[in-house]
Order: sequence, then C-alpha cells, then structure tokens
Amino acid sequence: MLNDRSSILSLLETRRSVKPRELVGPGPTADELKRILIIAARIPDHGKLMPWRFVSVADDQRDAFAALLQTALKEENPEATDAHRQKENEFAHYAGQLVVLVSAPAENHKIPVWEQQLSSGAAGMNLLMAAHALGYVAGWVTGWRAYSEHVRQAFCGPGERIAGFIFIGHPMRELEERERPELSAVWKPWEPPSV
Ligand SMILES: Cc1cc2nc3c(=O)[nH]c(=O)nc-3n(C[C@H](O)[C@H](O)[C@H](O)COP(=O)(O)O)c2cc1C
Repeated sequence: MLNDRSSILSLLETRRSVKPRELVGPGPTADELKRILIIAARIPDHGKLMPWRFVSVADDQRDAFAALLQTALKEENPEATDAHRQKENEFAHYAGQLVVLVSAPAENHKIPVWEQQLSSGAAGMNLLMAAHALGYVAGWVTGWRAYSEHVRQAFCGPGERIAGFIFIGHPMRELEERERPELSAVWKPWEPPSV
C-alpha cells in the first residue's frame, strides 16, 4: 500500500506536459484509451451533469481534420501565409492519439455554468494524469482552433465549446522541467478582514 501511495505521489510530483509537436507514437491502444477516458470522467461534477465529453480522432481521420483546419483558417484569416497553413497541417498530423475535450455545460441549471466549466478542467487534468500513469505523456493545447466557430461545429453541439486538443503519445526527447511557482507565491493562510 505504501509503495502504491509513494508511486502515486511521485507521479503527481513529477508529471509534466509535453508539447504535442514533440510527440512520437504510438498512442494508447483502444483498451488503454478507454481506461484513460473512464478515469478522465471520474472527477468532481456538481449535480452529476457530466458537463464534458471526449471526442477521439482516429489516425485515419487526420487528413479530414487537416482539411477542416484549412477551411477554418481560410475563414478566420484569409491572409494566412503558406507557413501558417503548413503549421496547421502539421498540427492535424501530430503523432499519438488525439482527444478533443468538449465542455458541454447545461444552461439555465441551478449549477452555475462556471462550476460546470471547472469540472471540464478537472476532466482534462485527470485525462493527462491517467495517460501518464499508463506510461504515456500528453499535451493539452488550444490556440485559435479551439475558438474557431467552424472547428467548434465539427466537434460540438449547441452551447458546447472546445476545451482543448489533447495529444497522447511518447516524448521524442527527455522532458525538461518547467518552472513551478514557489508555494509562498500561491498560498497564504487566510486573514479574516477586520470588522
Ligand atoms: C486550457 C489550456 C490550454 C492550453 N493551450 C496551450 C496552447 O495552445 N499551446 C501550448 O503550447 N500550451 C498550451 N497549454 C499547455 C500549457 O502551456 C503548458 O504546457 C502546461 O500547462 C504545462 O504544465 P504541466 O507540465 O504541469 O502540464 C494549455 C493548457 C491548458 C490547461
């Protein structure tokens, strides 16, 4: 039990994201992906609304995804350069498994949309953790594609939005540590206001 606990703590203390463009395959197997998504769905969710969904994009759908991004880019930025178009093509073909995290909040519900969006963030985080626990690395990115109406409509229903594109694979080189906040910068004991 102690060993389990220390390996979980070690995972939490050392996990870090990879830049999706620095991934190599293969991504998780079909069974591993299901396991990752079951874990991703096991998160705090006030009111059991499941205000998030996961859309997996298969390897043989990457060309269709690339075509979608090209059409969206034309709409968003008709002046886009060849280099930009090429970048989007590369994005659509990054190695590993692509999962699109969709935030799907229930409107006009007593649980505020804000809380439902927080739950989407938790789902994304658990997805990353599960991927890393299975021996993969993952990267969560957004960028203009996550905010394009054309791309949104390809993955989301009404009232839903893209919370991120999450790529799962293996790192092409050793991950460098990212600077983390000093605890004192993000934590202080509460000081009640004087009345
Ligand atoms: C909602 C969200 C959107 C992000 N979008 C991008 C992005 O567009 N491009 C990028 O390089 N990283 C993006 N990131 C990842 C962060 O820049 C960064 O890589 C990550 O937070 C590293 O932290 P970690 O190593 O603890 O996972 C995003 C992260 C989140 C949570």
